[in-house]
Amino acid sequence: MFRSVARSAAGKHLIRRGYATEPVPARKVAVLGAAGGSGQPLALLMKLNPLVSQLALYDIANTPGVAADVSHFNSRAEVAGSVGEEQLEKALDGCDLVIIPAGCQGSLALVNMISNPVDSTVPIAAEVFKKAGTYDEKKLFGVTTLDVVRAKTFYAEKAKIKVADVNVPVVGGHAGITILPLFSQATPKANLAEGDIKVLTKRTQVGGTEVVEAKAGKGSATLYAGAIFADACLKGLNGVPDVVECSFVQSTVTELPFFASKVRLRKNGVEEVLGLSSLSEYEKNGLESLKPELKASIDKGINFANQS
Ligand SMILES: NC(=O)c1ccc[n+]([C@@H]2O[C@H](COP(=O)([O-])OP(=O)(O)OC[C@H]3O[C@@H](n4cnc5c(N)ncnc54)[C@H](O)[C@@H]3O)[C@@H](O)[C@H]2O)c1
Repeated sequence: MFRSVARSAAGKHLIRRGYATEPVPARKVAVLGAAGGSGQPLALLMKLNPLVSQLALYDIANTPGVAADVSHFNSRAEVAGSVGEEQLEKALDGCDLVIIPAGCQGSLALVNMISNPVDSTVPIAAEVFKKAGTYDEKKLFGVTTLDVVRAKTFYAEKAKIKVADVNVPVVGGHAGITILPLFSQATPKANLAEGDIKVLTKRTQVGGTEVVEAKAGKGSATLYAGAIFADACLKGLNGVPDVVECSFVQSTVTELPFFASKVRLRKNGVEEVLGLSSLSEYEKNGLESLKPELKASIDKGINFANQS
C-alpha cells in the first residue's frame, strides 16, 4: 500500500514515483484511543506510512507503552504518546488528520470517525463541532472502509478474480442492512447470478458478526481498514488527483443528511460527494429498506448531542 521513502542528502523526505522523486510534505496525524484493539494496529500502520511525519498517540490509559513500542519502527514518523485529558490539546495541536477509534474532541483537522455506531457518532460529532463553531462538513468522515474491503474480498472469492483488481462501492450506513454494497457497479464485471449477489450482500452486512463468532467472544473486528482510509485522506491533503473512497459524510445524495457513498478527497477534505449512479432493482429495494433505520440512527445521534 505504501510507497518507499528515501531521505535525500539534504535531509528532505522524498517519495519515489517511477524514476522521479518528489518532496513529501510534513503531516501530523493523531490517533485518539490509540491503546485499544483497533487503535494499536492503526498506530503501527500510521507509523509505517511514509506520508506521516509526526504521530500523536492519545488515550485515557496505556499510551506511553504503546508509543514506546511503536516508536522503535524504522520509519519517518516521530511518535509521541500522551495520556489523560490535560494532554489532549498537545496531541491535537497542528494536526492534519485525527483518527478516532474512541472518544471525540473538537479539531480543525480532517476527522476520521471510527467509533461505533458510526451512523450516530458522525452526527454527534457534527453537532459537537457546530456548538464549538468548528464544524466543516468537508472535514468529517465516518470510516466505512471495512465494508468496502469485505465486499471486495467476498466478490473476488466468488468471481475467482484477483482482489487487487476489484472495486465495489458500498453506500448507505455502517450497520446491518444500512450497509449496501453495489455489486452491479463492481469492476471487473463478473456476471454473478442474482442469488449469489444476495448472499454476498448479506455476508458484507454481517461481516463483523462473522469475525466476532470466529473469535468465540474473545474480541471483535479490528480496524486495519482505517489505515487505508487515512492514507487516502493524506494523499488528498497532498493534492494527489482523483483519490476516491467511500465514506459516511454529510450528503445530499438522498434525503438523509448523512450518507455513505463515493467521495472525492482533496486538499480541503471532501472535494465532491459522488452520486449513486444506476442501481439494480435489488439495490433500489435495499436502498429504500435501509433509509428508515439509517434515519433513526442519525436522529438518535443528533438528539443525543443536543440533550448532553
Ligand atoms: N468503523 C469500523 O469499521 C470499526 C471497525 C472496528 C471497530 N470499530 C469501533 O472502534 C471502536 C474501538 O474499538 P476497539 O476494539 O479498539 O475497542 P477497545 O475497547 O479495544 O479500545 C478502545 C480504546 O479507547 C480508549 N478510550 C476510551 N475513552 C476514551 C476517550 N474519551 N479518549 C481517548 N481514548 C479513549 C480506551 O482506553 C481503549 O484503549 C469501537 O467503537 C468499535 O466498535 C469500528
